[in-house]
Amino acid sequence: MIFSASFGPAVLALQALLGVNAAPTDAAHQARAATHKCKISINEIPDLIDITIDHITTYLYDGCFTSVQLTKAYIARINEVNSTLHAVLELNPDALDIAASLDAERAKGKIRGPLHGVPILIKDNIATDDKMNNTAGSYALLGAKVPRDSTMAAKLRAAGAIILGKVGLSQWANYRSSNGSSGWSSRHGQITNAYYPNLDPSGSSSGSGVGASIGLSLAALGSETSGSIVSPSQRNNLVGIKPTVGLTSRYLVIPISEHQDTVGPMARTVKDAAYILTAIAGKDPYDNYTSEIPFEIPDYWRNLKRSSFQGAKIGIPRIAITSSSTNAPVLAAFNNAVEVIKKLGATVYDNANFPAYDEYRRSGNSSIVLGLDFKTNVKQYFDQLTYNPNNLHSLKDLIDFTMADPREDYPDRNVNTWISANNQPCEDNSCAYAWNAYQADVYLGGIGGILGALESAGGEGGLDALIMPTDFAAGIAAIAGYPIVTVPMGFYPETTRPSAPNSRGLISNAPNQPFGLAFLGRRFDEQKLINFAFAFEQKTDVRKEGPDPYIVPSAQIKDFL
Ligand SMILES: *[C@@H]1O[C@H](CO)[C@@H](O)[C@H](O)[C@H]1NC(C)=O
Ligand SMILES: *[C@@H]1O[C@H](CO)[C@@H](O)[C@H](O)[C@H]1NC(C)=O
Ligand SMILES: *[C@@H]1O[C@H](CO)[C@@H](O)[C@H](O)[C@H]1NC(C)=O
Ligand SMILES: *[C@@H]1O[C@H](CO)[C@@H](O)[C@H](O)[C@H]1NC(C)=O
Ligand SMILES: *[C@@H]1O[C@H](CO)[C@@H](O)[C@H](O)[C@H]1NC(C)=O
Repeated sequence: MIFSASFGPAVLALQALLGVNAAPTDAAHQARAATHKCKISINEIPDLIDITIDHITTYLYDGCFTSVQLTKAYIARINEVNSTLHAVLELNPDALDIAASLDAERAKGKIRGPLHGVPILIKDNIATDDKMNNTAGSYALLGAKVPRDSTMAAKLRAAGAIILGKVGLSQWANYRSSNGSSGWSSRHGQITNAYYPNLDPSGSSSGSGVGASIGLSLAALGSETSGSIVSPSQRNNLVGIKPTVGLTSRYLVIPISEHQDTVGPMARTVKDAAYILTAIAGKDPYDNYTSEIPFEIPDYWRNLKRSSFQGAKIGIPRIAITSSSTNAPVLAAFNNAVEVIKKLGATVYDNANFPAYDEYRRSGNSSIVLGLDFKTNVKQYFDQLTYNPNNLHSLKDLIDFTMADPREDYPDRNVNTWISANNQPCEDNSCAYAWNAYQADVYLGGIGGILGALESAGGEGGLDALIMPTDFAAGIAAIAGYPIVTVPMGFYPETTRPSAPNSRGLISNAPNQPFGLAFLGRRFDEQKLINFAFAFEQKTDVRKEGPDPYIVPSAQIKDFL
């Protein structure tokens, strides 16, 4: 392998030499031209299912290929598998033009950073002010226009990423039906997992998970209200970062809940996820929850070390880890993971439990918060549209549209979640009833939950992080806006008997099905969680050691040189 992991800093040093925006001097141009030489043969370019941002940065810099060629290869891969997996809803018609202009910038010596010229897919609830639609997978919003890019899209573009297309999702981020399915929307139909035919892709960031897992782009953005990044990440053998609510802006992201929604990266390596988080995190005047960020956004990808567990204090909230008829392989892999983490130098505290876990399990506060937030926040989203083709101004309008339009598959997929939300006893989330429910959640997820567990052991300062199989991590972190990083931990054995298809034709459990290990921590403690996930990944390399997906596109960069 020829690529050098220290290339990021080299690129930055070059930028410093050139002055990021200043026109480069002739001398600098010459110096640069001398270093631009592809040092590998065509056959050494990594497969697009394994390629990383460090590879792409190095090879674009050295002129081994261009962003246009890379983008063409990803489009070809999408076209190979999409009729089976349905993961990519819309390609960006401007993607190749954007790639060409980024190539031109690079040729002039301007490199925006590690994402310069890197194609990324985004979930169909993150708006772009271009030819693509933003619909949450619903005909209700097809053709709608937004006043500008969402902050997530704007930040990706500013960092030099190519927004390659919109990926599918569980419709409305899985906030519509009590009898829907993960990865279904009226616009793209059913998305399925690449690891087994008709395997549930999980959701709601289903297309983000499938797309990143088999290299339909370098990585993807997903969004999470409760589990929607970490669950499809683990199901598709990915690293997923669910940021603290407020670390990434939700401006012009189709909402469920201002108190729980967050946007984050889903990628094949921890470092790639960290590069993307660095680009998208930060304060945004359009989303005042970001005003709580207590620091300048660090380079989350810098200084990642294999030794992060040395001296670390890690807790296991055992009370929330339960065995079921099928999850023995997950629990066995978790026990192995605990041993690995101990060997890497951590002290592990078992039974670092959530103090109010029983209360949390009985609590109905979260459905009150989500219901009243959705009623409030979806109206706010509709009211920001500069073109609103179906004239939607309330949750009630959305319910009526969905029940009346036959493409929305009502009543086979009901709208019960919306009806309960609309029946909440307040007009919006400013009432005391909503506030009290949210305050209960802040307690149940915080002092009574994650914060309580972190403070329950380890002496002064408490624990650094908690670990759980990802299956059990999402809910308690969701209600109070805490971060999670999930990293591949294992796969169901080849001998697993595939479960019978459910009424939507999806299999819930299958041979080779991936699952993950979750790291949970305090609000805005992403850096620590990323460091631990990196050390675990480097030691175990589960993603690459595991079985291959059953369907993998064949197109590669070399086909487009
Ligand atoms: C967005 O939706 C419109 C239909 O309203 C369609 O004509 C257009 O092609 C869509 N955009 C993309 C990029 O698919
Ligand atoms: C992928 O397949 C889905 C389902 O057929 C379709 O809606 C979508 O437009 C396709 N995407 C592309 C890029 O062809
Ligand atoms: C954001 O603004 C809303 C409405 O003005 C307010 O209720 C809320 O407390 C603010 N949140 C933060 C974190 O500033
Ligand atoms: C909300 O949580 C509090 C604290 O646990 C609890 O007393 C209350 O019953 C919960 N409310 C609902 C509706 O479950
Ligand atoms: C979903 O629920 C609705 C009632 O809310 C029912 O009419 C419909 O048949 C259900 N769909 C399936 C597939 O069971």
